[in-house]
Amino acid sequence: MPKPIIIDCDPGHDDAIALLLAFAHPELVNVLAVTIVAGNQTLEKTVNNALKVLSFAGVQCEVAGGYDRPLMRPLEIADAVHGESGLDGPDLPAPTFAASEKHGVQVIIDAIRGSREKVTIVPTGPLTNVAAALIGAPDIKKNIERIVLMGGAAREGNWTPAAEFNILVDPEAASVVFQSGVPITMIGLDVTHEAQVMAAEVDYLLNSGHRVGVMVGELLEFFGEFHETMGFAGMPLHDPLAMATVLDPTIVETRHLPVTIETQGQYTTGRTVVDFYGVTGKEPNVDVALKVDRDRFVQMVIDAVLSYDK
Ligand code: BDR
Ligand code: CA
Repeated sequence: MPKPIIIDCDPGHDDAIALLLAFAHPELVNVLAVTIVAGNQTLEKTVNNALKVLSFAGVQCEVAGGYDRPLMRPLEIADAVHGESGLDGPDLPAPTFAASEKHGVQVIIDAIRGSREKVTIVPTGPLTNVAAALIGAPDIKKNIERIVLMGGAAREGNWTPAAEFNILVDPEAASVVFQSGVPITMIGLDVTHEAQVMAAEVDYLLNSGHRVGVMVGELLEFFGEFHETMGFAGMPLHDPLAMATVLDPTIVETRHLPVTIETQGQYTTGRTVVDFYGVTGKEPNVDVALKVDRDRFVQMVIDAVLSYDK
């Protein structure tokens, strides 16, 4: 039986690839809805990007826009990484279907309440929509299997020295989610920075003669430009690794540890504070991913992308 999942994302190059990875595996996951949050770009753009990528791949599903800004802060976007459109690189045609009329948070709540099986949520953007759903409808917690999120890090940050982008953009929302009592797997920079796709693999997609393969190659080329300036050898596939973990949890190794979110630090706002030695005395609340099988993961992504119709 495929697992029912909700993908909450802010496409975004790596979010787009995470979507393609999920929809390539209907035997493993049943995507109940794709909900969208502001993050990498404004909400209007991230919604449009989700619709464009899914349309291009021939996928249709409920796509619903949620929050257009964090719970308590102004929105910070990542246009330096994802460009003016939020998905610069390939020239994608206009979408073939429209977003839902419903608010993304309501879509999350209704999908979870209506599911016979417990639902896994896969957030790959700031946690605003997910936190709002948990605050507005706490009853849904009992029907959530797990939240497998891309965000945070036990070690280095990427948007500040201490913080990863998704958590930094809406730390109050992250704090709600991390304290919710729902089981959480944190796919943070500790593993996503080890999950890089290399130039030769991108060239393979670009030369594949496969329309979705070439489109993903073009996404990765653009994504690579920013990462090259940061000294990366390849392009870290952050969001697809969260999705891959849902499809095959053995792709990462985790440790069950206490994690709290810093919301007020002078230099450390948005930090996921991971207590490796139990010094806080807090109960472990998060499975923190610390190792990844890069080769198997990247092959999984390439196979998924090339499984779409040419
Ligand atoms: C995260 O930030 C975004 O720019 C990416 O889409 C990813 O979700 C990595 O820090
Ligand atoms: Ca993202």
